[in-house]
Amino acid sequence: MDPIAHVQTAGGSYPVLCGDDAPALLAQLWDARWRQAALIGDSNTLPRFGPALAAALAPRCGEVLQLSFPAGEAHKTRATKQQLEDSLLAAGFERGACVVGVGGGIALDVAGFVASTLLRGVAHVNVATSLLAQVDAAIGGKTGVNTAQGKNLIGTFHQPRAVVIDCAALASLPAAELRNGLAEAVKHAVLADASLFAALEAWADARVGDAPLPRPLLARCVQIKAEVVSRDEREQAFRQVLNFGHTVAHAIEAASAHAVAHGAAVAIGMVVEARVAERLCGLPVADRERLQRLLAALGLPTAPPLPFAAARELLGHDKKTRAGVVHCALPERLGRMHEAAGRWTLPTPIELLAELWEPVR
Ligand SMILES: NC(=O)c1ccc[n+]([C@@H]2O[C@H](COP(=O)([O-])OP(=O)(O)OC[C@H]3O[C@@H](n4cnc5c(N)ncnc54)[C@H](O)[C@@H]3O)[C@@H](O)[C@H]2O)c1
Ligand SMILES: [Zn+2]
Repeated sequence: MDPIAHVQTAGGSYPVLCGDDAPALLAQLWDARWRQAALIGDSNTLPRFGPALAAALAPRCGEVLQLSFPAGEAHKTRATKQQLEDSLLAAGFERGACVVGVGGGIALDVAGFVASTLLRGVAHVNVATSLLAQVDAAIGGKTGVNTAQGKNLIGTFHQPRAVVIDCAALASLPAAELRNGLAEAVKHAVLADASLFAALEAWADARVGDAPLPRPLLARCVQIKAEVVSRDEREQAFRQVLNFGHTVAHAIEAASAHAVAHGAAVAIGMVVEARVAERLCGLPVADRERLQRLLAALGLPTAPPLPFAAARELLGHDKKTRAGVVHCALPERLGRMHEAAGRWTLPTPIELLAELWEPVR
């Protein structure tokens, strides 16, 4: 099957494959030089998807190690990483091995981080089973874990060798998780493609129940992520556009002790940051209203569930914070992000975020 996108990297490029038969796609892309394989997933994804993937790889590399850790942000930690590493080393893993992440963004971020430091770095492949991972987390090589201070504060850039989008897996994805993925899909539309945004609006109005995202829209989201990462692999500047909504989102996630999921927090964060964009870079009010309306139509939250005071301290821990000033990537209008002299973020006074945190009543 032909890839739906390619990601350009300093060292070459890698494909993003998409289909209903993930085991066959994984076997198809497998590099004959990878003599050992380990599947790493969480306690939901590994039991569900691991056996068929392992069976598909068995003819290529014999016995496939299957490792899992408990699902949830609370286990996206250095302790989990260490346990996985100990298991891989105990099993005799060598440099020519390949680690296959199987699951949502958490499993892929952890598996990629393990691969990036094991024996100073082994190959890894992502099999994305949540919508959020498919349109976002699986692509681009950011890996990492959380600490008490915040999200993803320890991690690496380590590009996968390939990405598999497992479309059939979405059948078992809980509806709330589907919505979390839709938040990142909306983000991609805001930052790069006004016509995708309009297509999402039309789909949101027409759909019945929790119907999955139509494949052409999913493919467009994947392409946007691939294009952004290809232009700026290590987030020197342009890749920061992907952080729209995330400065606020990360603070909400941490302040709520992850009771608010990443996608939901991004939805809220985009609305708050869009208000900031109205003030700082002229986002039309009508565009912010369309964004808010689309997110609500998709069943996503649009208002912070906690007061600004609860998030204030945590905003200071964001990776994009410099000298106490928060930096936000902001849209100028739907489909276009603000840029000035090669910079894709704007310094945002904490006081402005405090003022715009809640909608004006
Ligand atoms: N690396 C990146 O560039 C990047 C980008 C965006 C988000 N992220 C990270 O991704 C994480 C969020 O990812 P997520 O929303 O996928 O969360 P997740 O990995 O926790 O997955 C959501 C839940 O759905 C379950 N699940 C996944 N696929 C399933 C399936 N097909 N059937 C049944 N259950 C399934 C998981 O076990 C989990 O319980 C956050 O930690 C975030 O920081 C990383
Ligand atoms: Zn995100």
